[in-house]
Amino acid sequence: MSISTEVDMERIPRHIAVIMDDNGRWAKAKELPRTAGHQQGVETVKKITEEATRLGVEYLTLYTFSTENWNRPEPEVAALMGLILDHLEDEIFMKNNVRFRVIGDLERIPEQVRVRLHECMERTKKNEKMTMVIALSYSSRWELTHAMRQLAEKVKNGSLQPTGITEESIQECLATSFMPDPDLLIRTGGELRISNYLLWQCAYSEFYFCDTYWPDFDEEELRKAIADYQSRERRFGKTGEQVAKK
Ligand code: IPE
Ligand code: IPE
Ligand code: MG
Repeated sequence: MSISTEVDMERIPRHIAVIMDDNGRWAKAKELPRTAGHQQGVETVKKITEEATRLGVEYLTLYTFSTENWNRPEPEVAALMGLILDHLEDEIFMKNNVRFRVIGDLERIPEQVRVRLHECMERTKKNEKMTMVIALSYSSRWELTHAMRQLAEKVKNGSLQPTGITEESIQECLATSFMPDPDLLIRTGGELRISNYLLWQCAYSEFYFCDTYWPDFDEEELRKAIADYQSRERRFGKTGEQVAKK
């Protein structure tokens, strides 16, 4: 594979979030079962994790299974859980010094998978090159509902005043409280939607949509997304002149 896209190594996004879509359509186009698409998708996860680590990305958050995905046919859900179980032992984390974390409603996850997730987080907790996060049984509305409940409990027991509810105190109640907001959000597969992913956190993220199916997404595609991100001016509400002065 020849790598052609140049990226500025001084301005690598700290946090990249990805909506890994189109495994099913990739498989269908090849007349394979949908699960073959998910299997190939796992190979892309490994490739992209390694490349992101090489590039110096600090956090990579991968949308792996949404709250809404529980509504898929049971055999597909089981196959996805099986894939997670099979690949958490992977050397990828230790070899690349990657810390593993998971965000989402883990109470809904089968016990065996949940145990393995905790083992993997424990095993990799001291790794420090990059943090790879999978969003599993995750949706933003679930996360925000959960956060609001936590805040309401605190107000009820008197440890928090309503005026103490600030952007920071909300942020602390989110599943993502241990990481910065995504700088860049990538969605593969051509759909132009956010599908209940990191709604609060993506308030100022740069969005990058591409038509490539996730199983075909590779190192070069990631570099293209980063180069595109680097060509943009992030203004955070200010004027272009103010930003240029910095
Ligand atoms: C993304 O691929 C993986 C998950 C949502 C688990 P899809 O399974 O959504 O593939 P398409 O969108 O049906 O092609
Ligand atoms: C989003 O993909 C969720 C994940 C990538 C895990 P979907 O394929 O479920 O999204 P929609 O439902 O088509 O928007
Ligand atoms: Mg999809």
